[in-house]
Amino acid sequence: MASPLPFSLLVVIFLAPAVHGSAAAAALFPREALPTKSGYLPIPPANASLYFAFYEATHPVTPPASTPLLVWLEGGPGVSSLVSNFFQIGPYTFAAGRNNSSAPLSPNPFAWNRRFGLLFVDSPLGTGYSSAPSPSAIPTNQSVVAEHVLAALQSFFDAQPAEFRARPLFLTGESYAGKSIPAAGSLILATNPELPEHRRINLRGVAIGNGLVHPVAQVATHADTAYFMGLINDKQKRDAEAMQAAAVALTNAARWREASDARARLLSSLRNATGLASLFDVAVETSLEAEFAGAAAVAEALMNSAEVRAALGARRASEGGSPWQLVSPAVDAAFHDDVMKSAKPDVEALLAGASARVLLYEGIRDAQDGPVAAEAWLRELEWDGLAAFRDAPRAVWRRRRGGGGGRGRLAGYVQRHGALVHVAVYGAGHLVPAAQGRAAQEMIEDWVFDKGLFGGDAAGTP
Ligand SMILES: *[C@@H]1O[C@H](CO)[C@@H](O)[C@H](O)[C@H]1NC(C)=O
Ligand SMILES: *[C@@H]1O[C@H](CO)[C@@H](O)[C@H](O)[C@H]1NC(C)=O
Ligand SMILES: *[C@@H]1O[C@H](CO)[C@@H](O)[C@H](O)[C@H]1NC(C)=O
Ligand SMILES: *[C@@H]1O[C@H](CO)[C@@H](O)[C@H](O)[C@H]1NC(C)=O
Ligand SMILES: *[C@@H]1O[C@H](CO)[C@@H](O)[C@H](O)[C@H]1NC(C)=O
Repeated sequence: MASPLPFSLLVVIFLAPAVHGSAAAAALFPREALPTKSGYLPIPPANASLYFAFYEATHPVTPPASTPLLVWLEGGPGVSSLVSNFFQIGPYTFAAGRNNSSAPLSPNPFAWNRRFGLLFVDSPLGTGYSSAPSPSAIPTNQSVVAEHVLAALQSFFDAQPAEFRARPLFLTGESYAGKSIPAAGSLILATNPELPEHRRINLRGVAIGNGLVHPVAQVATHADTAYFMGLINDKQKRDAEAMQAAAVALTNAARWREASDARARLLSSLRNATGLASLFDVAVETSLEAEFAGAAAVAEALMNSAEVRAALGARRASEGGSPWQLVSPAVDAAFHDDVMKSAKPDVEALLAGASARVLLYEGIRDAQDGPVAAEAWLRELEWDGLAAFRDAPRAVWRRRRGGGGGRGRLAGYVQRHGALVHVAVYGAGHLVPAAQGRAAQEMIEDWVFDKGLFGGDAAGTP
C-alpha cells in the first residue's frame, strides 16, 4: 500500500467495542450519530455511484444559505472516508469510548460539522461502500478520480434545494487524497466557466493534511528526516539516500511502476531500520501489521452488519452492494502506477490568480508525509507568490480555547502568504485531528472563516 494509515491507531478504535451480534451493532449507532443524509451519488461517466454521508452543521454561526460545506476525501488509496467520520472528525466518534464497550460511539466535541456541513465521500470508486460495478471500473489515475468527485458533487447538489449550491465549498482530506483533492479542485475550476451559472460549484479552497502531492520531491526527504530525528545513523542515511536517488531517477524517467516499487522498498527499509510499524508517527512504536487483519475483521463485521448498513444508507448485497473494507486492496493495487505521479500542477492551478485558497497542514511526528516533505515540494511550486511565501514569518500558534492557563497550549506553527497557508501541527503524526482534535477544529474553522493566523488578517486575532 502506498500510504497506509497507521493501523495501530485503527486497531485501538475498532477492536475496543465488543461486537457480539447485529443487535449490538445497531446499538453502536445512536440515532443522533446518524448522517443527516446518506446514500449514493450517481457518477454518470462511470455509470456507477459513490457513497456519501452528509452531516449538517450543528452550531452554525452563519445563515443556512451561506454556511460553508466541507467535503472529506480519505487517503490510502482505498481507505474508506468513514474511518475519519467515526474516528477523527465526525459528530460521533469511537475515540472517547475506545476502551469502553458500553459507550462505543460518543459525541465528538471537536467535530468538523460544528460550524460547517460535512460531506464524507467514499472515493475512488471501489472504496468503502462505493462498490465498483466491475474491477475495470476502478480508476487508475487522478484525472478519473477528479471526474468522479465532480460528478458526485453535481449529483449531491441536484438532490438538494437549489440554495445549497451557493454555500462556499471546501475540499478537505488527508494523505493520498493530497493528490485527488487538488485534481478535483482544479477540474472544478476548469469546468465552471463552461457550465450555466446554476450548475457551477462554489469552490473556495482546499485543505490537505499530511499529503502526498509531489512525490518526487517528497521521497527525497526521508533519509534526512529519519537521520535528524535520530532514528538512523550516518551509514543508514547514505543507504537510504541511494534508494531515494533510484526512486527519483525512475520517476524522472516516467517508469511509474518501478518508481513506485522503489519508494515502497525505501519505506520498508526505513521501517526495518527504525523498528517502527510505520513512519507515520514516530511516537507510536507498536508493530501491528499482523493485528491489522484482526482490526479489519472487527471493523468490517460492524460496517457490514445489516442494521449498520441500513442505518448508514449503504446498499445490501442484493442491491449490488459489496462488502465494506477498511482499505480496498483492489483500489490500492489499481493506483500502483499513480503513486509517483505529481499533483503539483493542480495546486498551481488553484493558486493561480488566487482562484482558491490552499491550506496544507502536517503533524510534525510524521517522518513520511510531515512538514519537511511538504516544504520540499513547496520550494518547487510555480506560483508568483512563492518568494513572498518563503520569506513570510512562521508564527507560533497557541490554542485559543480550553486550558493551559493564560497562554493557550502550543498547537504548532503557521506560515502564510496570499492564498497559501502552511501549518506544522505540534503533538501529532499523520492523522492530525485524531491526535489534536481541539487544535484541528480551531484551525479548520479559522481557516474557512479566513481569520486569525490562518486567514487574511495578517495580524491575527487573539
Ligand atoms: C449501466 O448500468 C446498468 C446497471 O448495471 C446496466 O443495465 C446498463 O447497461 C449500464 N449502461 C451502460 C451504458 O453501460
Ligand atoms: C484500556 O484498558 C486496558 C485494560 O483495562 C488498559 O490496559 C489500557 O491501558 C486502556 N487503554 C486506554 C487508552 O485507556
Ligand atoms: C462506559 O460508558 C458508559 C455509558 O456511557 C458509562 O456509564 C460508564 O461509566 C463508562 N465506563 C467507564 C469505565 O468509563
Ligand atoms: C486515466 O485513465 C483513463 C481510463 O483508463 C484513461 O483513459 C486516461 O487516459 C488516463 N489519464 C491519464 C492522464 O493517464
Ligand atoms: C524489511 O523486513 C521484512 C521482514 O523481515 C522483509 O520482508 C523486507 O524485505 C525488509 N525490507 C527491506 C527493504 O529490506
